[in-house]
Amino acid sequence: MYSSAYEYKERDLGQYFDSMANNWDTCPVKVERAEITAVKIKEIHFESNRSIVDFGSGTGLLGFQLKDTFEHVHLADASEKMLQVAQAKIAEANIDNIETHQIERLSELPSKHSAIATLMTLHHIPDVDEFFTDAYGALEDEGILIVADLYEDDGSFHKHNPSFDGHNGFNVSALSAIAENAGFSVQHVEQYYEIWQENFDGVEVAYPLFLFVVKKPKETTA
Ligand SMILES: C[S@@+](CC[C@H](N)C(=O)[O-])C[C@H]1O[C@@H](n2cnc3c(N)ncnc32)[C@H](O)[C@@H]1O
Repeated sequence: MYSSAYEYKERDLGQYFDSMANNWDTCPVKVERAEITAVKIKEIHFESNRSIVDFGSGTGLLGFQLKDTFEHVHLADASEKMLQVAQAKIAEANIDNIETHQIERLSELPSKHSAIATLMTLHHIPDVDEFFTDAYGALEDEGILIVADLYEDDGSFHKHNPSFDGHNGFNVSALSAIAENAGFSVQHVEQYYEIWQENFDGVEVAYPLFLFVVKKPKETTA
């Protein structure tokens, strides 16, 4: 069993996502969920719209949608191939405010940001407490973290992915406790999307996604 998010490359996960990269954007569900997540993010009030990090960005399906909302968009992912696809799209569209970072932890980013969004990635991160601590450190005061991911499921959501060794979704109350422990205040939680796919019995069922919005407080000087 892994002990740290730094083991992405040693797990089969890295190979799995590298192999998916070239066809990632051809999946209508992935495109739609990113579009709907972006609409929800644009409804949030941000103290600053200077920069957002899309962590576990894949090819940037979410981050690209936020390029007119934030001055700078940072696509961060551990998969070299996912980021190569993203870079090709950036070059093709001649976009000058999106850049990529091949990293495995937010603590590797050199500067702080106004916001961090992560879509369908937290369930792949072994140490969730460590992720929230890293996110806190990577945000400016009053920065916002948005996690969009699966509610707890029976493991059937990832039945097609033999390399999956992550979390079978999340209990949002438990996530709130982790976020608060890291120093965040919870701003908003809602169920906002459903992915329909077959469960273990081959029956199409809905796997609901939550939007979880937390804020880093303003540092007060004594
Ligand atoms: C399910 S995909 C989601 C991609 C994208 N957010 C989307 O919705 O299209 C999960 C992504 O997280 C990335 N990932 C997994 N573990 C990571 C880690 N420790 N650091 C950075 N990226 C990671 C994978 O490479 C993959 O691109």
